[in-house]
Amino acid sequence: MARIFDVAVIGAGAAGMMCALTAGQRDRSVVVLDHAKAPGEKIRISGGGRCNFTNIHAGPKNFLSANPHFAKSALARFTPSDFIAMVEKHGIAWHEKTLGQLFCDDSAKDIIRMLLDEMRAGGVELRLGTEIGAVEKGADNFRIATNDGVVEARAVVMATGGKSIPKMGATGFAYRIAEEFGLAMTETRPGLVPLTLEPNLLAELSPLSGIAVEAEARHGKTAFREALLFTHRGLSGPAILQISSYWREGDEITLSLEPDLDFSALLKAAKKENGRQAVQTVLAQHLPKRLAQYVTERQGVERPLADLSDKVLDAVGSFLKRWPIKPAGSEGYRTAEVTLGGVDTAGVDSRTMMAKSVPGLYFIGECVDVTGWLGGYNFQWAWASGRAAGENM
Ligand code: FDA
Repeated sequence: MARIFDVAVIGAGAAGMMCALTAGQRDRSVVVLDHAKAPGEKIRISGGGRCNFTNIHAGPKNFLSANPHFAKSALARFTPSDFIAMVEKHGIAWHEKTLGQLFCDDSAKDIIRMLLDEMRAGGVELRLGTEIGAVEKGADNFRIATNDGVVEARAVVMATGGKSIPKMGATGFAYRIAEEFGLAMTETRPGLVPLTLEPNLLAELSPLSGIAVEAEARHGKTAFREALLFTHRGLSGPAILQISSYWREGDEITLSLEPDLDFSALLKAAKKENGRQAVQTVLAQHLPKRLAQYVTERQGVERPLADLSDKVLDAVGSFLKRWPIKPAGSEGYRTAEVTLGGVDTAGVDSRTMMAKSVPGLYFIGECVDVTGWLGGYNFQWAWASGRAAGENM
């Protein structure tokens, strides 16, 4: 007779592996199925190869979801400290880079090795290179059609992530299964993604390509202060990736460059001191030279300070404080770090991650409508939601 597993996890990514090791160590028989050749591929490439595996400040406020309360339960029950304890148990050295972001000292592969070791300790079976077909629910068990025969299990966990980086095997498969089982979806769109500009503005800003500057990027009431990068496609850097998750097509964002500086006051003081200086010279003391030149030309102030009224200098200052930009679009799933939206949390139990209408069917990680900021939050959600499911099956 064919073996029936307690749990079949579809997707050997961050969430799937955490769920599998948790259930396995609770003596459940667990099989993990993945179409990729290797587990945890996104972990491997994350954080520039060092994996920003959590953020010590992670809390519900750092996540976007149609229901901001949904993530609270899982996040409270598996915290950054819990993950750090596992990392330390495996002797993996780590450091805080900035803003509470924790990275491996050495390699993201250490995190994958740790998860695989923990899975082995729980007797989890990992089947890679497995193509998944239909997922059906019978009277007692789920039946999962694969290229290697049918897998039967009492519980199925969908952990196939979102649509980001299709080149790496992202499929949005969990969304299809959710719909087939009658769960609602929220709109999905690329998040943590560079923004593009319409051709005229792109051409105007092309001399700035490659320049990085400290900035605050704002959309409505939401603002992030981090590095901003001008690219040959548009705008990138952490400040832009963060605000991209809040930005909607047609909306404007505003940029404040070097937000600690009062450029208006700096220019007026410089004028008093030495009116023969050019505006560009003063700006270039605080901004990259090409950026100072662009601002000077754009504001039409290519003259000595003494020739310009304080009102004109105020206008330069306020441009640098509130530079309005209307992005044309985003680079899309090709480069997005995450997918916003997904399986509607209204249909999922926040304590167990089980579908309310389909006992035994679970959704965890990025496929659920919970998306974190940049900085280790998305992995923390993967760990926490994987743990929540693994503890309840
Ligand atoms: P994940 O995508 O990790 O895993 C899904 C698994 O399902 C994969 O193994 C895939 O092969 C498999 N799969 C998909 N479709 C399938 C199908 N049809 N059949 C079988 N298997 C299927 N976050 C963070 O917190 N810190 C960071 O440093 C980074 N860095 C980063 C860099 C880059 C370049 C990207 C693209 C993303 C990040 N992220 C991040 C985001 C983070 O990687 C992401 O949120 C988590 O990996 C999501 O974990 P999941 O387990 O939900 O999906």
